[in-house]
Amino acid sequence: MFLAIQDAVNTGKGTVSLRGWVYRTRGSNVLKFIVLRDGTNIIQCVVEKEKVTPETWAAAEKILIESSVEIEGDLREDKRAPTGYELGVKNLKIVQLAERFPITKDQSTEFLLDMRHLWLRSRELTTVWKVKAAILTAVREYFAQHKYIEVTPPIITGSSCEGGSTLFKLDYFGEEAYLSQSAQLYLEALIFSLDKVYAITPSFRAEPSKTARHLTEYWHCEGEAAWMNFEQLLTFMEGLLSHVVQTVADTCAEELKLLGRNPADLKKIQPPFPRITYDEALQILKKDGIEVPWGKDLRTEEEEQLMKHYDKPLIVTRYPKKIKAFYMKDDPENPDVVLCCDILAPEGYGEIIGSSQREENIDILKRKITAQGENTEHYNWYLDLRRFGSVPHSGFGLGIERVVRWLCKLETIRDAIPFPRTIKRKTP
Ligand code: 4AD
Ligand code: MG
Repeated sequence: MFLAIQDAVNTGKGTVSLRGWVYRTRGSNVLKFIVLRDGTNIIQCVVEKEKVTPETWAAAEKILIESSVEIEGDLREDKRAPTGYELGVKNLKIVQLAERFPITKDQSTEFLLDMRHLWLRSRELTTVWKVKAAILTAVREYFAQHKYIEVTPPIITGSSCEGGSTLFKLDYFGEEAYLSQSAQLYLEALIFSLDKVYAITPSFRAEPSKTARHLTEYWHCEGEAAWMNFEQLLTFMEGLLSHVVQTVADTCAEELKLLGRNPADLKKIQPPFPRITYDEALQILKKDGIEVPWGKDLRTEEEEQLMKHYDKPLIVTRYPKKIKAFYMKDDPENPDVVLCCDILAPEGYGEIIGSSQREENIDILKRKITAQGENTEHYNWYLDLRRFGSVPHSGFGLGIERVVRWLCKLETIRDAIPFPRTIKRKTP
């Protein structure tokens, strides 16, 4: 609700002054309805020619949507209205008379993306920003409850974390540098200072594909903890995800409904989450008639098929070593697979978390780097972490927009971020 209305209701004041933007107008030559919008909600304001000054009436007649205004009026209860109130206008002052708004009904997706700086005021997107803020708050809350310290890793880096193919290169004073794909290597360094750390930063992936789940710039929430083993990692991530989902279902019920997501369905997302291995995933797919050769990564279609069997996030562990990153620890029971885990969201929203226990032994780690065709020289500082007090440790990365997309039931990840960056788009 508009703060001024909340205030008036609390203090019993009948007259309020509101500021905002014109969301819609309609009416006749004696009566105008102006729906006013601010960051909190919308409210209908009624202007009656007979009851206002000629200046106010003239303003009401010429006003266009998205004009900024100040409106003074009497608050009237209206059970059907979104806020429960409507306003009988006494005074209307146009702060800036908007030009004709370029966005009208039924415009193409590309046009709306070109107009993103204006379209982000839409009710749907405004609602998404609120849910996203609630997700970030809940994430921070969970880390704080578990005594993790928030840290600030660099964005410009000389080291690749997730392989060269999706690296954005940068001319760094004549030398090659990259935009960070993941803060992980730096978080690994910071656990030796703080034990348990997390960061929420932008990550960059030069993803050449245009899909509903890839951005080239996204917000990445990553956690890393000394002494944490694989089992503890799985339990921590399960706890974090359910805390986020439960909190958002409780605090954003209205917003979720507006987006077409029933909060009651989210309330069912409680631990334990189902856990399967990569091998078991292949068996399930095989029964469904989909043959994935051992050693191949699961593609989007295969993940979607797999998720038809589950209505909670699915924990998939122990993928083949050869398709996973160099820093992941071998499974002591099967050296062909690593102690890694992807968490897949229900309803086909795909991978939301990537994680693993890390290899802590310097010789094995060097061998893994070399086996992936990389030069150990480039990881000298990182290898120091295995030279000076190495300990077992684990960590994960959660894609914030992937979670936003899932909880808000968005068709595409682009609507989970105000200014999406994709292969074809860097403006506005
Ligand atoms: O699985 P990824 O690549 O794992 C890592 O980067 C690890 N270093 C994280 C860690 O252990 N600290 O990425 C982690 C998550 C994915 O599960 C996905 O949710 C998200 O980041 N993600 C993307 N989100 C949007 N657009 C993209 N192009 C993404 N790529 C990954
Ligand atoms: Mg991954």
